[in-house]
Amino acid sequence: MSFIIAIDGPAGSGKGTITKRVANKIDFLRLDTGALYRCLTLEVIRNKIEINDIPKMTDIVRNMKIEFVPNEDMDELDYVFLNKENVTKEIRSNEVNNIISVISSIKEVRNEMLQIQRNIAKEKNTIMEGRDIGTVVFPNADLKIYLNADIEERARRRYKENMEKGISTTYEEVLQILKNRDKIDMEREVAPLKKAEDAIEIDSTNMSIEEVVDKVVELYYNKFKKLKWLK
Ligand code: DC
Repeated sequence: MSFIIAIDGPAGSGKGTITKRVANKIDFLRLDTGALYRCLTLEVIRNKIEINDIPKMTDIVRNMKIEFVPNEDMDELDYVFLNKENVTKEIRSNEVNNIISVISSIKEVRNEMLQIQRNIAKEKNTIMEGRDIGTVVFPNADLKIYLNADIEERARRRYKENMEKGISTTYEEVLQILKNRDKIDMEREVAPLKKAEDAIEIDSTNMSIEEVVDKVVELYYNKFKKLKWLK
């Protein structure tokens, strides 16, 4: 049986960076589930699919082939290939950010995604990050983390990332998009973003990346030792 670490939290809380670094340290498979929803959203935009055309959307989820290619730079997220095309940059565009929360609140879409996510973690120790990993995808995950940070700090991080990548936006725009996404992600009916009862909350507002990584790794070793001792 594999060991599952679930990392949930709002946009810009650092889930992607933390997950990558922790996975690297403890040799776990990592999965950025947001990238799956982003690929679907890109396909919806490109194929001009209506937001209420659920059969077409679920069909895309069933048939899309997504590959993650490691980016050796630890500060960068991995490359994402959708049906063999490198879409790393496209899936993080404002266009995608603007409608992703609407698409990811569709129940049928989430049901399809659920199977994909569960299958990936079947055989390997996995650290999976998203919004509903500890609450819905793996309610029995061995370790659950809820990663949080103040909205202004999250917006500053995203704005800085955009600047570095040459994506032109203002800080105010980034803040507004984050606020909208938080609201929809937290208030949606199906699998809303919330802290699982048994999740450990880490507020990263005033912490460095290394401090958060060390904390998660420490929590993992403590849990791992306890589970081994119980067997
Ligand atoms: O983690 P991210 O910012 O790349 O996620 C993008 C969006 O995808 C997020 O606003 C909501 C959706 N998402 C979701 O609904 N459930 C997940 N497990 C992961 C992401």
